[in-house]
Amino acid sequence: MKLKTLMMTTVAALGIAAMSEAQTVGFSQIGSESGWRAAETTITKLQAEERGIDLRFSDAQQKQENQIAAMRSFIAQGVDAILIAPIVATGWDSVLEEAQEAEIPVVLLDRLVDSSDDLYLTAVGSDLVHEGKVAGQWLAKTVGDAPCRVVELQGTTGSSPAIDRKAGFEAGISGHANIEIVRSQTANFTRSLGKEVMESFLQAESGGADICALYAHNDDMAVGAIQAIKEAGLKSGTDILVVSIDAVPDIFKAMSEGDANATVELTPNMAGPALDALAAYWKDGTMPPKFIQTESALYTVNDDPLGEYEARKDLGY
Ligand code: AHR
Repeated sequence: MKLKTLMMTTVAALGIAAMSEAQTVGFSQIGSESGWRAAETTITKLQAEERGIDLRFSDAQQKQENQIAAMRSFIAQGVDAILIAPIVATGWDSVLEEAQEAEIPVVLLDRLVDSSDDLYLTAVGSDLVHEGKVAGQWLAKTVGDAPCRVVELQGTTGSSPAIDRKAGFEAGISGHANIEIVRSQTANFTRSLGKEVMESFLQAESGGADICALYAHNDDMAVGAIQAIKEAGLKSGTDILVVSIDAVPDIFKAMSEGDANATVELTPNMAGPALDALAAYWKDGTMPPKFIQTESALYTVNDDPLGEYEARKDLGY
């Protein structure tokens, strides 16, 4: 069998959506603040490898200026496209204009920016407001008419998930006067700050006796907070309900042990749809929709959390 035929057969057998000639793609990742972020990095590398793409990876270590510098470096290298998970929503106009000037398509992954959508090819992500709303509605349904004082751990200040998940949750509990957010603070999407900020919430709320539920903008902060709740001598998941977002293996483990109650899934595979859109664009200029939406499903303790943990634990989280 000729090499090209063999390659085409292999590609078809693997179900790879598009075959490209060793395209070069720059990927500016935020950092590794959460298990979800680690999985997105792993999967992006795998998706690129499967398609024979030369992926140039840059870890911004949580700094927007590093992401902007990485984008400028990718532009100088003349890459065929740029993937970026933008840490915050503002401040991208100039560098996006520079990419457009250089005719390099940019695809946003998992977070949005407030720049004109003419400046990027497409964005792949979830409906972040909807995720928060699902979490809020779950809580409203769970507590019914009982009074419920909620503490909230926010994601990175100025990031689209922190802004939208907050707004979504507030919409989810609106009309339920018995539910009130009494404290809300950023823990930067990290486990360590999740624990630290939760400790201060517990201290300020009679050792936790006045808290009915925790809403965390991601699972990692919830996992850190669960540790703080337990160390305060309370039963996490019972004394304080825990609802968060991402569906990482560790939250399913916590759910299987009764320490957490619900999570909303965010797929870490943003790169698959992004690279498919790029392949079509490179092939014949096909323009993708401006937003490619991924699914957001609610998981509760009734959804076989141990099985979900087992199914996900080796996927790069
Ligand atoms: O932008 C997606 C969010 O960023 C994830 O929910 C969180 O875990 C990550 O760090």
